[in-house]
This record gives sequence, C-alpha cells and structure tokens, in this order.
Amino acid sequence: MEDRLKWWQKTNVCEIYVRSFQDSDGDGIGDLKGITQRLDYLKKLGIGAVWITPCYPSPQADNGYDIVDYCAIDETFGTMEDLETLISEAGKRGICIVMDLVFNHTSDQHAWFLESSSGKENPKSDWYIWRDAKPDGSEPTNWRSIFGGSAWTWSETRGQYYLHTFLKEQPDLNWENPEVRCALYDTAIFWLDKGVGGFRMDAITYIKKPAFTDGVPDAGDGMTAIHEMIANSDGILDFLHEFKDTVQSGRDIFTVGEANGVNASDLPEWVGSEGVFDMVFEFSHILLGLKEGTAGAGRIGWTLVDLKRILTDSQEKNAGNGWYPVYFENHDHPRCIDHYFPGTADSNMAAKIIGTLLFTLRGTPFVYQGQELGLRNVAWDDINDYNDISTRNRYGFLISEGKTPVEALAAIHFFSRDSARTPMQWTADKNAGFTRGTPWLPVNENYRTCNVASEEADPDSILSWYRALAEIRRSHSELIEGSYEEILHDSSQIYAFIRRGTTAEAIILTNFSEETAEYDAALLDGAALVISSAENSTKGMLEHLESAVYKRKI
Ligand code: GLC
Repeated sequence: MEDRLKWWQKTNVCEIYVRSFQDSDGDGIGDLKGITQRLDYLKKLGIGAVWITPCYPSPQADNGYDIVDYCAIDETFGTMEDLETLISEAGKRGICIVMDLVFNHTSDQHAWFLESSSGKENPKSDWYIWRDAKPDGSEPTNWRSIFGGSAWTWSETRGQYYLHTFLKEQPDLNWENPEVRCALYDTAIFWLDKGVGGFRMDAITYIKKPAFTDGVPDAGDGMTAIHEMIANSDGILDFLHEFKDTVQSGRDIFTVGEANGVNASDLPEWVGSEGVFDMVFEFSHILLGLKEGTAGAGRIGWTLVDLKRILTDSQEKNAGNGWYPVYFENHDHPRCIDHYFPGTADSNMAAKIIGTLLFTLRGTPFVYQGQELGLRNVAWDDINDYNDISTRNRYGFLISEGKTPVEALAAIHFFSRDSARTPMQWTADKNAGFTRGTPWLPVNENYRTCNVASEEADPDSILSWYRALAEIRRSHSELIEGSYEEILHDSSQIYAFIRRGTTAEAIILTNFSEETAEYDAALLDGAALVISSAENSTKGMLEHLESAVYKRKI
C-alpha cells in the first residue's frame, strides 16, 4: 500500500512566514537568502516541502497578501535569482518549495485594477467585481468584509463600487471572466516552470460569488458577514476543476487549499481523485471555542470531547478518498498552546501533545515555524507594537464600542495574528539571532530561554521531541499508511487512537488534563513503548499532559 502513496503524503511540510524567519541583510525583515541559510535546520526536522508565504511585489497592506505582480519578487525579500537559488539548494536536500497563490484578489495597486478602475470602458473593465450603488447611493449589498467595515468601496474614477472580501486594498477578481482565469493559470505555470513543488491556494473558497443580495443583519451595524454569504458557493468547483486540469494535470506537484467554509461532509468533492485539490485546510478544529462577531471572534466554552469529535470526523471523511493536512498553527492564528491549553499549563508538556498529534494523525504534518520550539502568544501593552491590520482594526472597533484600552488589549492578546508572526528565535543573542538590524515586529521576550540553540542542546526540549516524532513517523509505516480508529471516546481527559498498518499498529495516547488519567491497561497488551513525554510511563495511567506512543505487532 505504501508504494501507492505519493511523496507529499510521506513527507512533512513547514510553513515559513518569510518576513519573520531569517533576515540575511540587516534590514529587520526576513528574506529568501535567510531561508536558504536555514535549509539544513529544516532538513533535520524531516521537512520535504516548504510553503513560503507571498514574497511577490506588494504594498504590504496585508503583509504580501495584496499582490501587484504575480510573477516577480518583492525587493524586500530578495530577487528572482535568490528564489531560484533557494529552489535549487532546497532541491539538493530533497526539499521542494511551495508557493502561496493569492487568486481571490490582487492589490488595488495592481496594473489590472488600475486599468479596470480607470473608467467603465477599458479592456479590463470586467476583471473585478463592479456594481452600481443602490438608488439611495449606498453599497450594493450589506456585506461586512472579513477585516471589518463594508465589503464595498466606492471608486470616484469608475463611478461604481468594487467588492473586496478582505481589505479595500484587496479588490476581488472576477472569476466569471475567462480572461481573468487564464491570466491566473498562466502565473501558476510560470512558477511550475521555475521548479516549484506545489501550491497553497489562499482564500480559495471565496472566488465564486453568488447573487448579490442583502443578508440578514447579524449585528448592530446592519451588516452580515461576507463569509456567510459567499464561501463555497454553488459552481465554485467548476472553476477549480478547470484550474486542476490546466495547471496540475500530469505534474508531480501537490495542491492544498485554504478552505474556510468547506466542512468534513463536503470533502469528497474537494479532495481525492474526483476532487479539486490534494488536500484542504479545514477550519473546524482551529475555530473550536471561537464565535464570530463584528469585531472578529469571541470565545465560547469547549471540551476535549468536542475536539476529539472534530478531529475524528476529519480523519474519517478523508479515509477512503483524499488526504488530510494535519495542522494546528499557521500565520493567521495565535499560537496553539494558548488555544488548546490553559495559561497555567506546562508549555513543554502541552507542546509535546500537539507535536505528537501532528506526526501521528493520518495525513501530512504541516509545522508552522516556531511551533517546534513551543512558542506562546505575546501580550504587548501598547497597540502600536502590533502590526497586523486585522488586529489594529479590531482594537479600533472595540474602543469605538466603549471598551477601555485595557479591555481591548486583553482581547487582542488572545486573538492577534501577530503572536504567530514574531521573529523566529534562533539564539539567546540580541534579537534572537533573527536580524542584526531592528526587527520589523518585536521579538517574543521568552527568546532568551526558548530558542533553537538551547533546545538543540537539550534532549528533553520541544524541538528534540519534534525531531524524534518526525523520525518515528518516517520509520514506522503504520503512522503514514495505517488506518485511524479513535478509542476511549468518552474520556474527558484522554485523546487516544490506533493507527493500524498491515503488520503492526501504533497506539497513541495523550492526556490533555493537568491531572493523572487512568485507562484500562489491557488496551496495551503486547505493546511496547516507543516514546513518552513522562519520566516513567506506566501502562494504564498517563501523567498530567503526558503523550505516549506504543506499538505492537498484529
Ligand atoms: C488568507 C491568508 C491571510 C490573508 C487573507 C487575505 O486567509 O492566510 O493571511 O490575510 O487570506 O489574503
């Protein structure tokens, strides 16, 4: 069976937030040469593919997710030659580079948009989504953009409104126009010709727009969240099949879609041989405990049983068809230890639980930079230290609603995307060895103890655990090809499952609680311990926050 698996199912992927990984020229911003310098570090983590966040020319209104040229490199990050060097140096180490394709929107400074907005008569007039005002001059619909405020902005030159799912600096492309689709596919092929190994498809569930009608207001501002109105609209799969046929067919690459709005039950149409992508990032476990509101998400209670149900559902829906990208962090969410564990939890033990699940659930592990060190959220007390536009918008909204700065900052501390974007912590030296200049975003204060150099030297560190787990996954085929079966379903402390291969099975046990947890020791009859995060692992009992992997022949 293993032979039927593709290379990207057997390897591990690392997401690199280019701005924050390694600065090579002292300007305080990470760059492509910096990534090339760190390839051996990635290799030691068992990484076979590196997804780099957008490094195309951009005014950086949304840190590169607002693109002015899909086929060039922003000078902040280097040159096209730097990217070619990165691709070839990575290739020598058996690592491929995966580009982030941002195809739902461009920057409002893109030549296509400048032309389209110049008036109603021009060759690109239909490349974006233009609508007249309502008779009273107001926006065509009451949709609220994902980063707050109306999703429509008025263009004086054009005399119409344009749609933007995200910022007003990110106008949505009109996928109904075949010329637009062709132009986008050409840019993907441009990168394939450079030798990239795959694509992450940004915000891809928003490309198809349904009828432009008002939604039922979901808050006092009279608006309705655009996500509810347009995500995963009927007809989207026709576009994506065309993308697959034109760009991917016949090439040994992988695609992974950012698929907010695609649920486990939709997966058969989205992944696998009949689907449109090789994998999709679902949001169910990432959104657990969060509730959408006008100022971004609020918090609601959740239990371990909820999390187990969600993960098992995704595992089962991907079982017969398709493949799951296992992830717990990326550049859009705060650090996961602070999401899934209380602030009091021991970071080392909690991070090892996440690392264990990452490498033992069925699917391709996606590590986000710094996750392997156990980085936690930052909690700055000055909003000016925060860079992320969605964080700053949210703060402004909370203040306008009457919250005090202290209350608004408390919300920011839990939700800000900047917590995942602080510079990578390489050493205990100034600026954590990230830059010799001034970092574009403050370094997390814990860098003096939490950094690659000190964790490499410590066999009990989170980094050592991640490296060990990556090697265990590589060398125990049941962890790659085996089936998934959840056990101890009703336990409110333990998440456990079996990965059953043809000749052996692995039993994975994690104790999410800060108390010891007991289970029936007979579950492990004939099984031997492979690894445990506790000093003395005993069959039938897990220490607080312990993770353990056992194995037996079948
Ligand atoms: C995706 C990206 C996010 C960005 C947004 C708009 O969700 O991951 O960082 O802000 O799309 O492009």
